[in-house]
Amino acid sequence: MTKSVNLNQSKEIKSLHNDLRYLFNALPDITYVISQDGRIVEGNDAGINLLKSNNTQILSKHFCDFLPAASQYQFEDILRRCSKSGERLRLETTLKKSDNTYLDVELFFSKLYVLNNEYTDCYLIVARDISDKKKQELDLLRFTNLAHFTVNPIEITDQHGNIIYVNPAFEQASGYSKEELVGKNPNIFSSRKHPKSFWHRMWQTISSGKVWVGEVENLKRNGDPFYTQILVSPIIHPDGELVGYFGIHRDISDQKYLEQQLIHAQKMESIGMLAAGLAHEVGNPLASISSLVQIIQRTSEDEFTQEKLELIKSQVTRISRIIRDLVDFSRRSTYEVQLTDVNKTIRDAIEIVKVSKKAKEIIINSKLEDNLPPIMLVPDQIEQVFINLLLNAVDALQGVIPTMENKKQIYVHSTLIDDFIVITVEDGGKGIKQDDLSKIFEPFFTTKKVGEGTGLGLWVSYGIIKSFRGEIRVKSNENVGTTFTIRLPIQQ
Ligand SMILES: Nc1ncnc2c1ncn2[C@@H]1O[C@H](COP(=O)(O)OP(=O)(O)O)[C@@H](O)[C@H]1O
Ligand SMILES: [Mg+2]
Repeated sequence: MTKSVNLNQSKEIKSLHNDLRYLFNALPDITYVISQDGRIVEGNDAGINLLKSNNTQILSKHFCDFLPAASQYQFEDILRRCSKSGERLRLETTLKKSDNTYLDVELFFSKLYVLNNEYTDCYLIVARDISDKKKQELDLLRFTNLAHFTVNPIEITDQHGNIIYVNPAFEQASGYSKEELVGKNPNIFSSRKHPKSFWHRMWQTISSGKVWVGEVENLKRNGDPFYTQILVSPIIHPDGELVGYFGIHRDISDQKYLEQQLIHAQKMESIGMLAAGLAHEVGNPLASISSLVQIIQRTSEDEFTQEKLELIKSQVTRISRIIRDLVDFSRRSTYEVQLTDVNKTIRDAIEIVKVSKKAKEIIINSKLEDNLPPIMLVPDQIEQVFINLLLNAVDALQGVIPTMENKKQIYVHSTLIDDFIVITVEDGGKGIKQDDLSKIFEPFFTTKKVGEGTGLGLWVSYGIIKSFRGEIRVKSNENVGTTFTIRLPIQQ
């Protein structure tokens, strides 16, 4: 039973006081009455038990004794405001329990007007245990942080499928900001690469309460693809209602890119083997044709025959050139590698290309980083690669009309990035069609007129760069220009 201090023992008041205490104890919340100066005058069982320690009586103690220092000022302030306006005020704080631990509480203050003189200018404090709520808040904070800082892109939608949250990883992967996405349907990322049935299956799975996992090709804000493995799950409220969906992505763009590269490399390899065989098969009969043509040329006087034989000879020469490229590609490993100054091979290549007739109006600029480490290469081959790239650039600039600010120019750069020598050959030529980009490294792919291109230059270059464990990539915009980038590891 609670005890009160200095109570006037009048009968009527005593009865009222008993009633009040009875009422207090019936309340589920922790309740106190405090005097105007903040001392505890009364408390229900729940309240007394919470605060009292074995040898201390809490009645007549100051309420601030049970509050953390940070809340004491607020407490005083609330009493002042409460006394002035009589408004009901609240304070979220902790109460020091009898075992010296703290309980998270929400305190509600109101001025008491009951019991005429007895509790005049007293305050009622109802404390609600919010430790569960606090724990939930903390849990929520932890999960919010987790979602915010994880490297996995995360999106959450409402039950209609409209986005209500995306994390920074999602913003980065998609190129959209959170503000642009909230309220939108995730189909704005659609690449239209997946059939309707694909999405239908996903909706069927998640709307039946199950988790769906799949690999999806999406579109970034700038139109580039981004590949993700995505797990979509419905969010079900404890009362069974569907309140939304969340999707966690795993960015697999790099993996997809590597896969494509691998497929590409394998394709090239098999084509290489095929070509080597072909070169061998064609080489011998071609040599026979060539010598037969020479014999007939020597023996025939007929002008018509001579003219036609000349044509045959030029065609045979062309085939021979192709065969030579093919053989080059397949016998590459027999050349001798040596420590090579890449910049020197670039300069030599530029000198060779400069003298060609087509390159007359073209300025070839080079910015080659000094002191690049020499690397183990076959100098002739690497020079061949640069010649191929430069000649292609020269070809791409044919027909381009130079303007004041845009001359016909080619830029060649070399630099060291991490453990790679990186060389770029850039032109402002006609560019490569998007559809052709994946084909240009294939043998015999050419957009040039018959006789002008064999379609072998890039294929041979690709093979050479690969054999030195390097890589060659292309970026191109139609009517803007093309950049080839070669990366050669300095440790092979
Ligand atoms: N710098 C470039 N600008 C535009 N297109 C290019 C460039 N480099 C290569 N290409 C395209 O790639 C094709 C293949 O090049 P390549 O293998 O060197 O064969 P070729 O030059 O004999 O056609 C070319 O026909 C052209 O369409
Ligand atoms: Mg070429």
